[in-house]
Amino acid sequence: MYDIPLMRPHLPDAAREKVLEVLDSGYLTEGPVTRRFEEMCCDWLGVGHALAVTSCTTGLEMALRALGVGPGDEVVLPDYTYPATATAVALVGATPVVVDVDPATMLIDYEAMERAVTPRTKALLPVSLFGNPVDQGRVDAVAREHGLRVLEDAACALGASFGGEKVGGMADVSVFSLHPRKFVTTGEGGLVTTNDPDLDAWMDSFKHFGLDREASREGAVFSMVGSNLKLSNLQAALGVAQMEMVDELLARRRELAANYLDLLAGTGGVELPATTPGGEHSWQTFCVLVDGRDEVMARMRAAGVEAQIGTYALHLQPAFRDNPAVRLEGDMAGSRKAFDRALALPLYHTMTNAEQERVVDTLREAVR
Ligand SMILES: Cc1ncc(COP(=O)(O)O)c(C=O)c1O
Repeated sequence: MYDIPLMRPHLPDAAREKVLEVLDSGYLTEGPVTRRFEEMCCDWLGVGHALAVTSCTTGLEMALRALGVGPGDEVVLPDYTYPATATAVALVGATPVVVDVDPATMLIDYEAMERAVTPRTKALLPVSLFGNPVDQGRVDAVAREHGLRVLEDAACALGASFGGEKVGGMADVSVFSLHPRKFVTTGEGGLVTTNDPDLDAWMDSFKHFGLDREASREGAVFSMVGSNLKLSNLQAALGVAQMEMVDELLARRRELAANYLDLLAGTGGVELPATTPGGEHSWQTFCVLVDGRDEVMARMRAAGVEAQIGTYALHLQPAFRDNPAVRLEGDMAGSRKAFDRALALPLYHTMTNAEQERVVDTLREAVR
């Protein structure tokens, strides 16, 4: 246990009440509370359709299937990301084509992304990592030029926006995570969003065992092979309670991030995170870049402050490095730099200014 943890889920009293209501109702599986959660997300994100699912990973896999991605197809994605981004592609039998990232924004290198496109490429899978939105203009330009679909891994990007528009409605499909590291969490879970009614209908069927809603008037009819990605009323109750205060949750994250940027400005040995020009960060994760990151992280932890690595470089992981079904493009120098140097600092809703100053002092001491 640390004095100052990396993340502390913020569950208002209403969350407890809503969970108890679900328990009392006896309706534990997916149902009206899940519907309510989906509606709230649609309204807040300004997107046509939202499907609550079991995780971002399963949501990405389902979205790839919905986009018709399968064996023989290639999907271009960044090297610096959580393994789930590439795993989803491999699980549908397609080839993850992994390209480098810009070491400053830690997001996909748009030129490398375009260079990796071949006649087999079916989709682009950029990641709005840590809540920093991808440059949708650049992604769309490549997609349009080559006739590709865009699936956004928005695991960390709830509340982020680009060009004034919230992440969730700009790609063909976006997928968010509701894991407890995220500021809206259902324990485990994911949210899949799209403005395309046909994709929504396909995914709605897939996540309910292939149920055909149109044909199911007098008994269930299953028209396709589907799976079970339902999010229970119990989990959704947490999500509803948090969505009721989502603006406040996001505003506090942005305030704390702005404090970090102020407090750390000019600190020798600490490079501050860059935001995509034209984008607004949600600060799901506040990562600085430091040399000797592992040593700095160990010193901070020893001083009671939980620091953490940013995320992973796929080309260093055996599942992708030693896998003939994965194509690694380029030397991944940008990703390697981000992987070696990124350090995530504590950031949670109830964090006090005094706690934040302690993190900053501890970091300054650790990099000395
Ligand atoms: C970029 C990215 N993609 C996917 C995932 C997987 O999300 P989940 O745990 O909801 O499956 C994560 C997890 O943090 C992530 O950071």
